[in-house]
Amino acid sequence: MLDLTGKNALVTGIANNRSIAWGIAQQLHKAGANIGVSYLPDDKGKMEKKVAELVEPLNPSLFVPCDVQNEAQIESTFAAIQEKWSKLDILIHCLAFANKEDLSGEFSHTSRSGFAKALEISTYSLIQLSGAAKPLMTEGGSIVTLTYLGGDRVVPNYNVMGIAKAGLEMSVRYLASELGSQNVRVNAISAGPIRTLASSAVGGILDMIHHVEEVAPLRRTVTQTEVGNAAAFLCSDLASGITGQILYVDAGYQIMGM
Ligand SMILES: NC(=O)c1ccc[n+]([C@@H]2O[C@H](COP(=O)([O-])OP(=O)(O)OC[C@H]3O[C@@H](n4cnc5c(N)ncnc54)[C@H](O)[C@@H]3O)[C@@H](O)[C@H]2O)c1
Repeated sequence: MLDLTGKNALVTGIANNRSIAWGIAQQLHKAGANIGVSYLPDDKGKMEKKVAELVEPLNPSLFVPCDVQNEAQIESTFAAIQEKWSKLDILIHCLAFANKEDLSGEFSHTSRSGFAKALEISTYSLIQLSGAAKPLMTEGGSIVTLTYLGGDRVVPNYNVMGIAKAGLEMSVRYLASELGSQNVRVNAISAGPIRTLASSAVGGILDMIHHVEEVAPLRRTVTQTEVGNAAAFLCSDLASGITGQILYVDAGYQIMGM
């Protein structure tokens, strides 16, 4: 029943083979989805080359640069979707950023510019990409974003990203409310800690992972593939009655009080 054949899926946020977005793209592809990939471009074209090589086995029919701080790139990404696919069914928002200095130490010393940057890239981008996707989701659709427990409870060092994730989770609910009449579902996956490029910027990430391995009901953290499976489920008809939700894929850690 988990069949995504004929569905067009844009996956954002693949940086390397540890990226959660890479785990999601692979599972969507396995379920039969037609994959499009957007990447964060850099001056030397290194990211483009690296991501293109990585995603080649998935035969992406769309491969576009999209820095979410760049209006023109967002516009051209969705123009390319319109031109190549005519409709979009799945949007995977799997990106975030905060300055490293804002991911450790005293939260009260978060800089104004660091706050604005983290919230713009990590939170506002979901709103903007969803707005751009809306007119293309003519046959309904599914939008999935990635959040973390630090947006709901205090996790040492997560700091400004906790505020970004709290805003992201509330944005999921407002977007779900708006887009529901068009049969577009919007959900978030709250993943347990996984070692990636982004998570390595969070102070003490290894301690966080070890703590989860000791305390979580499953006595381990999760893999990109497990998050990918949950995303494929949320994008499929199996989840047709689910919207506006935060689904914890964290080996059960979130239920624990101590
Ligand atoms: N790794 C974890 O432990 C964990 C846990 C829960 C949630 N998450 C969330 O999962 C998502 C993916 O992160 P990840 O851990 O796979 O790390 P990652 O470093 O592999 O992915 C982060 C992505 O964000 C992209 N990005 C940053 N700035 C951007 C911009 N301006 N425009 C477009 N893209 C931009 C990067 O290019 C990268 O591909 C993030 O939202 C993160 O907060 C991660």
